[in-house]
Amino acid sequence: MEDLLKKLNQYKEEISASSATNADEVENFRIKYLGTKGLVKSVMGEMKNVPNEQKKQAGQLLNEFKQFAEAKYESLKEQFASAETQGEQIDFSLPADAITVGTRHPLSVTRNRIVSIFKRLGFAVAEGPDIEDDWHNFGAMNLPEDHPARDMQDTFYINQNPSWLLRTHTSSVQARIMETQKPPIRVICPGRVYRNETISARAHCFFHQVEGLYVDENVSFADLKQTLYFFVQEMFGKDVKVRFRPSYFPFTEPSAEMDISCLICGGIGCNVCKHTGWVEILGSGMVHPKVLENFGIDSNKYTGFAFGMGVERITQLKYRVNDLRLYSQNDIRFLQQFTGAV
Ligand code: PHE
Repeated sequence: MEDLLKKLNQYKEEISASSATNADEVENFRIKYLGTKGLVKSVMGEMKNVPNEQKKQAGQLLNEFKQFAEAKYESLKEQFASAETQGEQIDFSLPADAITVGTRHPLSVTRNRIVSIFKRLGFAVAEGPDIEDDWHNFGAMNLPEDHPARDMQDTFYINQNPSWLLRTHTSSVQARIMETQKPPIRVICPGRVYRNETISARAHCFFHQVEGLYVDENVSFADLKQTLYFFVQEMFGKDVKVRFRPSYFPFTEPSAEMDISCLICGGIGCNVCKHTGWVEILGSGMVHPKVLENFGIDSNKYTGFAFGMGVERITQLKYRVNDLRLYSQNDIRFLQQFTGAV
């Protein structure tokens, strides 16, 4: 009996001193003390050696010992559970991190505005691949291989297959539309285009365009003028003036470039309009009959107009951005200035 008491006290000390830092250690404790071959079981077995008159007292001691071991096991389990969840505990008094809301890129803002204006006039929106074949970018647009006007657009060709290129204008999308649809066609084609230019404040190797195409019976140059005039008034306000200058594009005849009165100086002359009071914003013209015929559209029955504008240029005029490189440098100080614009 004395011996048993001593043993139990010794074990209790040992149990008290036990600790665990993970689930495995807790389990080891359980196996060692409370398992089927554990210590508690084995000291219980000693009951048979206790003389009858002391059995009652010994039984109490052993029970108490068993409970002691069980209580320790429970507390280890709990302690371990709280150690595990500590990392997830939430301090509700901590001030929250400021939520930084992204802003739309100014070019997206401008593109969306352009698109929404033309949508109101009944234009559909079409997109096409950035990597094009020669036919859709040039050939179909009335620029055969030896055509000198190909030099107007310095082209990036794909090394593995020089009949592939990065589209130099989204006229390639118009080609794809005429290939698959019959007139009436009324579509705008927003997208990124690529030209092999040295990067500077005024030129970049890629930029964005919105080109438009309208093919139907009786489409006239007057329709072209009025559509584009409506567009600039919606885009820049009612006071803006427009003028058309004769120009040349292989895919339109006649062709014209459209200028708007300078928004920066109101037409008096400044360095943005190079002291002319006018800034060029787009190229346009009546679709060349050859282009229509390339797609099996009867040019005696149908006529059309087309136009193409640079999104960067429109954005520059709208927000007075004076360096093209700002658009692609991802400088947060630049981008944040367009907060709230959609
Ligand atoms: N594709 C021409 C360009 O990228 C723009 C344009 C489109 C001009 C349609 C006339 C008609 O420069």
